[in-house]
Amino acid sequence: MSPAVGKPIARIEGRAKVMGRARFAAEYPIRGVVHAVPVLSTVSSGRISAIDTAEAQASPGVLKVLTHLNAPKLPYLQRKDKPVTDPSVGEPFRPLRSDMIFFDRQYVALVVATTLEQAEAAAAKVRVSYQRARGSLTFDSALPGAHQPTEGKASAPYRRGVPEAAYAASTVMVDQRYVVPTEHHNPLETHATIAVWNGNKLTLYDKSQWVQNVQRHAALMFGIPYANVRVLSPFMGGGFGSALRAWPHIDLAALAAKVVGKPVKLSLSREAMYGTVGFRPETRMRVRLGADRSGKIGAVMHEAWAQTSTYEEFTENTLGATRLMYDVPNLSTTYRVVPMNVSTPTYMRGPGEVTGMFALETAMDELAVKLNMDPVQLRLINEPSIDPESKLPWSVRSYIQAMRVGAERFGWSRRTPAVGSMRDGGLRIGLGMAGGTYPGNRNPASARVLVNIDGTVTVQSAGTDIGPGTYTSMAQVAADAVGVDVGQVKVELADSKLPYSFPQGGSALFASLSPAVQEAGRQLRRQLAELAVADRQSPLFGLPAALGTGDGQVFVTADPARAESIRVLLGRSLQPLEARVTSSPSGKPTHSIHSFGAHFVELSVDPDVYEIRVRRIVSTFGVGRVINPRTAHSQAVGGMIGGVGMALLEHTDTDPRNGRRMNANLAEYLIPVHADIPVLEPAYLDEVDPFIGPLGAKGLGELPIVGVAAAISNAVYHATGTRIRELPITLDKLLQEHG
Ligand code: MOS
Repeated sequence: MSPAVGKPIARIEGRAKVMGRARFAAEYPIRGVVHAVPVLSTVSSGRISAIDTAEAQASPGVLKVLTHLNAPKLPYLQRKDKPVTDPSVGEPFRPLRSDMIFFDRQYVALVVATTLEQAEAAAAKVRVSYQRARGSLTFDSALPGAHQPTEGKASAPYRRGVPEAAYAASTVMVDQRYVVPTEHHNPLETHATIAVWNGNKLTLYDKSQWVQNVQRHAALMFGIPYANVRVLSPFMGGGFGSALRAWPHIDLAALAAKVVGKPVKLSLSREAMYGTVGFRPETRMRVRLGADRSGKIGAVMHEAWAQTSTYEEFTENTLGATRLMYDVPNLSTTYRVVPMNVSTPTYMRGPGEVTGMFALETAMDELAVKLNMDPVQLRLINEPSIDPESKLPWSVRSYIQAMRVGAERFGWSRRTPAVGSMRDGGLRIGLGMAGGTYPGNRNPASARVLVNIDGTVTVQSAGTDIGPGTYTSMAQVAADAVGVDVGQVKVELADSKLPYSFPQGGSALFASLSPAVQEAGRQLRRQLAELAVADRQSPLFGLPAALGTGDGQVFVTADPARAESIRVLLGRSLQPLEARVTSSPSGKPTHSIHSFGAHFVELSVDPDVYEIRVRRIVSTFGVGRVINPRTAHSQAVGGMIGGVGMALLEHTDTDPRNGRRMNANLAEYLIPVHADIPVLEPAYLDEVDPFIGPLGAKGLGELPIVGVAAAISNAVYHATGTRIRELPITLDKLLQEHG
């Protein structure tokens, strides 16, 4: 039997998704469900001075209007295991707790009515007056309040060598500032929660990347045992990090259901998605690179100023990639948080790395230009032999290979280096490249695997599948471990009552959960052999020989014709076989585990109106073993498209006068459509990383977006000679540069 791992199997929930049978949170048909619509603040800082709900309360179908004045005060017990998805400093925003306004589109009231239309109509009749406060509404005005993060390893000040002196002694220098704007995730499925109380027990149908986090959050909110709360999130229409935390609309839905004594559905509008479900924080950076004439980089100083809210200190790994990407003896990174009147930012695909690498990889291109050196060559000569930060050997570092293979696949050698030297008719052609990296993360996770009496296999874990194909990859791992066809495996995920798992986040779930599934499968393989040997009716009864499993059979390893099918063997038994395994990464790391990739971009720029059309992106990734080339391809393409959006389209605009998000909708917050997307050619290197875990696979969900924006920016420079250092690269910015 050939292994299922490595095969391009179509995602097993794919048919249910395209047939509309895969239910998203808001789609559960709950008898008697009523609808909640939040009222959103129109100011970003200050207090509610008056709130008039009389007209709303008297509107048809309205069951209740909740505000900070009448909402029951919930216990919100302190959580001992602060969730890894939450900032470690500060207190989360609790809705309807006080008259304070911290950010634009904050929940200030909740209308519950029999129908959605009645709730929406009544919500429009809630009258709120505000007493505005000055607040920190713009990045510039907030900058004086910038400070180093209170804690956090990744964002702590870092230095090695003597960066200032080494920089000053360099012969070729780059000193530039780069900006990544606020971006919102904008998954097509908006966040939604249906809350159903049954006595003192609560069920939440929620959009969540971490159901057991929501479970604990809801239990502590009401002061009830964890076991009284069940959270389900089996399918998701895109998460990208926006569903990692337990956001306050969950509180509102659960509270409203308690108050009105009926199941409540709260489905956020697209506009409300710009309020309290996170965003990529605006980050301003300064990068200094100092090199000698040969291109050897002696000094790097990378500083970041990143926005956070006034009530929590969100930080991300913006500068981690800089510390390990190149062999630089003198290097410092400095992170500062900039508290503003915004809701707390959160992780958004490739969080931190994608931001920092836009700056670093653009600066590298600027250095290559100054050195008059090919940008691939510059990177090759600064390749570190070990991780320069941890001093650990690399597990598998395939950056050089990704660049070499990528350059070959792309046809980089036809690039003529001079700016504007490549043409296609009247269009300027730009060719650019950049690198990417992402940590190979692994967390504890548990799985239960069953061999059922019909010979099928069931895999269970509370881990979620937000789209990468976890249902499919876990089926592949279990099929190989137990010895059955992948079609015989059913996977159940994202139910809080199933064995504990960390979130699907940080590209870590496969590496975290697969060892538990594999080990449980192997235990079942042994149990099957023992069962056969002990069963008088089995042709394998009493055999001293070594037994194996495969193709749905238990067989004698030395004589595979002597076999019994698992289905027949289990059919005589009255109960399924079961194994439950928790797997954790082992102790102190011995190797530095990261994925690497390289992007090569070709685009055209119209020299009259500066319209940019990306024509082709060739990306090559080293992520360890590829478990499923088909779902991996879809992850790569998704990440690369995200990179195109980041480079050319995405930015949340904020009104400097009042902190209002001005484009809180999909008409004005631009994301790529099909016509924006060129030929995408991702490929994975053939490799295995034995240090991440037994399957040898590092995560691949986030790496493909890291570096894309820099590669596009570098190609725009190659075409035009203009460097746009503030994303997105829009034609108005190019036109401004060219008068
Ligand atoms: Mo990812 S940004 O950890 O969902």
